[in-house]
Amino acid sequence: MHYRPMALDDYAAAVALWQQTPGVRLRDADSFEGITRYLSRNPGLSIVAEQGGELIGTIMAGHDGHRGFIQHLAVAERHREQGIGTALVNRCLDALRAEGIDKAHLMLLVDNEPGKRFWQRMGWQFRTDIALHSFVLSDSPTA
Ligand SMILES: CC(C)(COP(=O)(O)OP(=O)(O)OC[C@H]1O[C@@H](n2cnc3c(N)ncnc32)[C@H](O)[C@@H]1OP(=O)(O)O)[C@@H](O)C(=O)NCCC(=O)NCCS
Repeated sequence: MHYRPMALDDYAAAVALWQQTPGVRLRDADSFEGITRYLSRNPGLSIVAEQGGELIGTIMAGHDGHRGFIQHLAVAERHREQGIGTALVNRCLDALRAEGIDKAHLMLLVDNEPGKRFWQRMGWQFRTDIALHSFVLSDSPTA
């Protein structure tokens, strides 16, 4: 298993993986332009797992100088339960730490029970004290 920073060349394979992965919701921000902008603003923080040249796992992260934000953790179904998801998270958190970030957040679809179990096992705290609010700034966002 090889882990490395995500590059723009990974885009097509990453989208294909996300489209096959319940639990990952694609939005207009996941367009090629959106991911280009995200990776250039957050170099080295998004990581892929590959085996034999095939992309089998992703995690994306960015930060605002205070907090890290994680998204698009996905491992191809036939490669699950081998520690790849855990390794992606740990590498991503190491990269955030190296940027001086000491806390990270993520959004999880409310019906993603396996996702909830995974993050709880990783030690992440489900927050009941904060409600996420969103506001649409442009005409056609999807999420
Ligand atoms: C969540 C997800 C990324 C986990 O990926 P994974 O590679 O299977 O993760 P791991 O192998 O590190 O851990 C998964 C489970 O396998 C177990 N496991 C880890 N290594 C193992 C091994 N060698 N043998 C058997 N089990 C193992 C872990 O204990 C863990 O148990 P849990 O279900 O109690 O959490 C994957 O299930 C996925 O892509 N889900 C769909 C997308 C999603 O929901 N993402 C989260 C939203 S951000």
